[in-house]
Amino acid sequence: MSRVLITGAAGQLGSDLDRAASSRGFEVHGFSRADLDVSEREAVLQAVAEVEPEVVFNCAAFHQLDACETDIAAARMVNVNGVENLRLACDKVASGCRLVHVSTNYVFDGSRDFCDGGYREEDPPDPIQAYGLSKLEGEAKAGPDALVVRTAGLYGRAGSASKGGNFVDRMLARDSTITMVADQIVNPTSTADLAVAIIEAWQAELTGILHLVNSGSCSWLEFTEEILRLADHQLEVEAAATDPAARPRRPLNGALATSREGQEMRPWHEALADYIAGR
Ligand SMILES: NC(=O)c1ccc[n+]([C@@H]2O[C@H](COP(=O)([O-])OP(=O)(O)OC[C@H]3O[C@@H](n4cnc5c(N)ncnc54)[C@H](OP(=O)(O)O)[C@@H]3O)[C@@H](O)[C@H]2O)c1
Repeated sequence: MSRVLITGAAGQLGSDLDRAASSRGFEVHGFSRADLDVSEREAVLQAVAEVEPEVVFNCAAFHQLDACETDIAAARMVNVNGVENLRLACDKVASGCRLVHVSTNYVFDGSRDFCDGGYREEDPPDPIQAYGLSKLEGEAKAGPDALVVRTAGLYGRAGSASKGGNFVDRMLARDSTITMVADQIVNPTSTADLAVAIIEAWQAELTGILHLVNSGSCSWLEFTEEILRLADHQLEVEAAATDPAARPRRPLNGALATSREGQEMRPWHEALADYIAGR
């Protein structure tokens, strides 16, 4: 039976990975932040040595954009040093342990023409805010044998505690007109789908960078309208434009696409319909 270790296991992706791996019969050791702080090297070395997993799925991240700008040192402790600690720990497992690290579309600046589609694995990254910079640095710390999964626009059952729940649930909790940007695009991605795709990519022994998102893309405005339509929630949605002076900056074209064969996930609106039907 495969033994897997998950960091950030109480988060939206971490908890769906725990569920998906458990349902496949794997022996899952899920560590929430309270159980294991990835920035603490000794604790990471000890936890990985004790579990001796075949794979570590790193879902731990410091990803509140504003906090990353004001406390870049704290962001780097998790997003850079945390990855390095996990790689060192994986390298010490005598039976071999793969690191699967999760990164972000925010490693790109978003200036790509919308007509050219999403960013691919071979496109040069160029982050425009502290969060993206720290995640890009973290990717390099994962090492040459790791699988680095970049993703975007996540929503999942557990929600993201640090962001006050996931985007879908936050929109459905609103009771007055929503104003949403129409000029930033993304691939809304279900963490339940992503968890399965990550496990399959690890089992296929993929390494290097892999873009995994529900396929297709839309603006945050279209995403919001589709959420409300599917839930039959009658609310006005007003289009807004990105304020060029707003900081931290966000990529306008935040969409990802993949050049790697067989890695396309199902369309985002199908995954969203399933999520809303299951709420
Ligand atoms: N959310 C998105 O839209 C999005 C988009 C692109 C990429 N990603 C990436 O996808 C991954 C998963 O994100 P998610 O949406 O599942 O986020 P999430 O729900 O916030 O989960 C992240 C988890 O990491 C934990 N954590 C924070 N600092 C930690 C530390 N020092 N040690 C151990 N755990 C720590 C958090 O705990 P606390 O809640 O207690 O802080 C949280 O449970 C991250 O790598 C993120 O960068 C996310």
